Amino acid sequence: MSSHPGNPAASHPSAPVPARAGVRSDQVPPTPRLPMTLPLLAEKKRLGEPVVMVTAYDYPSARAAETGGVDLVLVGDSAATTVLGYSSTTPVDLDDMLVLARAVRRGLQTPLMIGDLPFGSYEVSDEQAVASAVRMVKEAGCDAVKLEGGGPASASRARAIIAAGIPVMGHVGLTPQSSTALGGWKAQGRTAAAAARIASEALALQGSGCFAIVFEAIPSAVTKELMPHIDVPVIGIGAGPDTDGQVLVFHDLLGIRDGLGPRFVKRYANIQREMDAGVAAYAEDVRSGHYPGPEHGYSIDAGELAELHTLLG
Ligand code: KIV
Repeated sequence: MSSHPGNPAASHPSAPVPARAGVRSDQVPPTPRLPMTLPLLAEKKRLGEPVVMVTAYDYPSARAAETGGVDLVLVGDSAATTVLGYSSTTPVDLDDMLVLARAVRRGLQTPLMIGDLPFGSYEVSDEQAVASAVRMVKEAGCDAVKLEGGGPASASRARAIIAAGIPVMGHVGLTPQSSTALGGWKAQGRTAAAAARIASEALALQGSGCFAIVFEAIPSAVTKELMPHIDVPVIGIGAGPDTDGQVLVFHDLLGIRDGLGPRFVKRYANIQREMDAGVAAYAEDVRSGHYPGPEHGYSIDAGELAELHTLLG
């Protein structure tokens, strides 16, 4: 079921490239990774290979995702809080998302790029949803889009977008765009009835043709119960270890934020601290005359300088 006929590595998404005869494996130049495709993603699930997904919002974060070897990149509407400074995701609009997604596109070659449909860009009708998804693909180069919720309206929007030829990722559990209706930013599915509702939403999205579904802030034991019922890749964020993959927000995992964030975040760096210290050191250097030094300036021929001096009188 390879989407790359003739390429032996394509039948196994992360297959190591065999060393050529007579060449030590450490002398073989690294083979570029294959671009992630929907068949390769499904294959990863079949093989039980964990799927790695991260958000990105600009060229540098996209480059980090590319270099870090992730499989899926989401231009998340979490941009509203991480890079645009809003206190929730609802204010970000489609035009904002398109600017961010275009920058991410310029930084990515390999991961599948998914554009998040922001609040207000798909709720009104299937037609509105298709029009917004088409803009994400046509104007920003997204490979797929994501929408939140698994109720009848979201399932219908997903079906309509997929019918227009655009792959859709679903998102159930804590769906930040409707966090007020859900009672705040808190775990979902903590009663049998609530967990069963999440299961039926996930199944509805799968029935609509979604290629993958995000499970957010769901008890790990609930995820474990649900997983055998879901055929498409499930990507978890605060949903425990039993999903097919994990997603984290770029700014959370790298510590580009105040505070630690939700309990499910594991922090791999403290870039905010580095940024604060770097800017403070620069400010101190400027104020104390330590920057710029001679090595930061440009030179001019002495004769030219003398002539300038004469010209200026
Ligand atoms: O917008 C976002 O970052 C998301 C992820 C948390 C899945 O939807």
